[in-house]
Amino acid sequence: MVQATPFLLVLFLALGAHGLSVKKCSLTGRWVNDLGSNMTIMTVNANGDFAGVYYTAVSDTTKKIKLSPLLGSQHQPNLLKQPTFGFTVHWTFSDSITVFTGQCFVDEDGKEVLKTMWLLRSHADKRRDDWNATLVGYNEFKRLEKHTEPWW
Ligand code: BTN
Repeated sequence: MVQATPFLLVLFLALGAHGLSVKKCSLTGRWVNDLGSNMTIMTVNANGDFAGVYYTAVSDTTKKIKLSPLLGSQHQPNLLKQPTFGFTVHWTFSDSITVFTGQCFVDEDGKEVLKTMWLLRSHADKRRDDWNATLVGYNEFKRLEKHTEPWW
């Protein structure tokens, strides 16, 4: 029992230190993706629901790009270190909708990254045009750091 005490103490400290080193991935904040699009996610509430705004760098239309709202939710904000999430962007300048789904990861260097896939649904004028109305793609978002000014 006497010999076990230092061992348990070392084990406890090692597990504690490991627990502290595992950074939690948080969706809240400003993000930029591989296309140069920006988004800001406001506070994630206790249920995991969140709202935000999206400014896309590219568009499938010739319309002038405008800031657009997003609504989403993530799993267990208080428990999961690398939560899964989904959100919808309601484009204000086109008839399209995009849904994103993904997971928030912390890289080996401690940097957060959002790995996502998306479906962009464009408006089809008639049912016959439904077949090519949905695009699918992939985006990776990194946190925008040390930006004090709003980006829009
Ligand atoms: C439209 O073209 O009708 C609206 C803009 C769509 C932008 C898409 S959504 C998926 C991809 N990721 C981005 O950041 N922008 C494009």
